[in-house]
Amino acid sequence: MHSSGSLWPETPSPSTESLAEGITLLRGFCANEAFALLDSIHAVAEISPFRQMIVPSGHTMSVAMTNTGDLGWTTDRTGYRYTTLDPTSGQPWPPMPAPLLTLAQNAAIASGFAGFTPNACLINRYAVGARLSLHQDRNEQDYTHPIVSVSLGLPATFLLGTLRRTDTPRRIRIEHGDILVWGGPARLIYHGVAPIRPGIHPLTGPFRINLTFRRVAL
Ligand code: SIN
Ligand code: FE2
Repeated sequence: MHSSGSLWPETPSPSTESLAEGITLLRGFCANEAFALLDSIHAVAEISPFRQMIVPSGHTMSVAMTNTGDLGWTTDRTGYRYTTLDPTSGQPWPPMPAPLLTLAQNAAIASGFAGFTPNACLINRYAVGARLSLHQDRNEQDYTHPIVSVSLGLPATFLLGTLRRTDTPRRIRIEHGDILVWGGPARLIYHGVAPIRPGIHPLTGPFRINLTFRRVAL
C-alpha cells in the first residue's frame, strides 16, 4: 500500500492509538495518499482561496482558512457560523472532493464511529508561527457525530484538553499523515494547536494543512 521512492521517505507504518475514551489517533493513516489529498485541497483553494478571518474581538486569525462541502465555517466581527456561501466569492463553497469524503469516512470507521456523513470540511493552513487557541467545536449544533482531523505537511503540537477549559491540555505531536478523531463522550473537548515551528516539508513547504470534517445540523 505504501508508496515507495523519494516522495515519502519517512512514511511511518500506520497504527491506531486510543488517547482517551472517544479519542483515537490514527498515525500515518493517510500518508500514502497525501499527494492526491493535496491536489484536492489545491482545487478547492482555486475556487475559495485561503483567507485569514477576523474573530468577533476584532483580531485576525493567524491560521488561513477555507472550506469544502455543503457548509463552511466562517467568522467575522458579528460571530462564528456556518454558511452555504463563501462570503469572499459570494458562491457556494466547493463540493467536497471524493478522496476527502472517503478518507474521512474510513477514518471514522477505524475509530469506531460508523455512519459518519460529514457535510462540512474546514481547511486550515498554518504558516510558521501560526497557532489556534484552546476552543470547543460547537457551532455544528449536532454532537452525535465525531470530528475527523487530518494533518498534512509540517508537524504540530496538538493541545488535547478535556471537557473543562481549566484543565491543562496534553501535548500530542501530530505528524504528516496522522488523523485524530474525537467523538461520543469526547466530542466537546477543548483543543488547540501550539505555534508551528519553522521547517520545510517536501509536500507542503513551510506550511501545515489541517482538515476537520464535521457534521453540521441543517
Ligand atoms: C481545529 O481545531 O479546527 C483544527 C485543529 C488542527 O489544526 O489540528
Ligand atoms: Fe477545533
